[in-house]
Amino acid sequence: MSGYRVLESSELSKLRDPMRDFGLDVLVGLSEKPKKLDSRYFYDEEGSRLFQSIMNCEDYYPTDSEREILENHGRSILANCASGPLNVIDLGAGDGAKTKILLSAAVQMGIDCRYVPIDISEAAVAGVTANIGAEFPGIEVDGLVCEYTDGLNWLSYQDDDRRNLLLFLGSNIGNFDKARARAFLRRQWTSLRDGDYTLIGFDLKKDIEVLLRAYNDRDRLTERFNLNLLTRINRELGGNFRTDAFRHYGTYDVFSGAMVSYLVSLEEQTVEIKSLGRSFHFEEWEPVHTEYSYKYLESDIVDLAGDTGYSIEGTYRDSARGFVDSLWRVDK
Ligand code: AVI
Repeated sequence: MSGYRVLESSELSKLRDPMRDFGLDVLVGLSEKPKKLDSRYFYDEEGSRLFQSIMNCEDYYPTDSEREILENHGRSILANCASGPLNVIDLGAGDGAKTKILLSAAVQMGIDCRYVPIDISEAAVAGVTANIGAEFPGIEVDGLVCEYTDGLNWLSYQDDDRRNLLLFLGSNIGNFDKARARAFLRRQWTSLRDGDYTLIGFDLKKDIEVLLRAYNDRDRLTERFNLNLLTRINRELGGNFRTDAFRHYGTYDVFSGAMVSYLVSLEEQTVEIKSLGRSFHFEEWEPVHTEYSYKYLESDIVDLAGDTGYSIEGTYRDSARGFVDSLWRVDK
């Protein structure tokens, strides 16, 4: 007997296995030359905690720059996009500390807000939901634990008549290469309605010394953040990486405008990853690419908005002119 059936979405979702995806990406990445690991796997519970510490450290300037922008311009951002009730959707919300500034301005302006923090870390969403709920009792908070793309898919099925303001702050867009950034912004556009808004944090090209310090901080938090990826592979996939046999190296590529991070093998070594049934050989000084953090020119931002279906409604800069929150309106 032969036949076929279409798998239903409930069955499909049961077949999704994040651990298998992680293993597969590690297998593919470490089999390439040069070797690479995807930066989205930085964010297990320990990685998310380390990233919070990076954001609070002095050398990593983007968080303070964006905080300053929201403190100085939060009200004009809201005045530009809110003529009625607003859904504030926060992609990659983290601890929501910066968004709180915007929500506080919204409360002062009497804007009726619903807040939707979206993050891959359950601890982050639980924390921010409790925190914002307690601090702003008038704001309804509906957190979602999922990846960005699932969050955007969820958004495209929302059909209330409130305007959406989608936040993609903290220079998260910088972790996509230019082609993926375009594709992501188009996906965002597809999930939003005509007249909705998005506020995107772009880190600008600047003094290279400042960039190098931010990604090679004196407290070595960025180094621990990168090395934690090896610890995660050890724990979740049965690896035997020795973190002291690798060194973090962050460098700036002037031509592409990206801070690029690597883990460099300090010796010739072989690492076994049990769940993959594979060993990986590293030569002395062999690099593993871990992250891009692209920096933008203001003209890049203008081109990007135009190419992906948005018009720019506001450009908000910090006083050092090193960071921009760009407010875009969806044109359909
Ligand atoms: C999350 N992302 C925007 C950070 C960045 O600047 O690329 C992650 C980070 N990597 C090293 N330090 C911070």
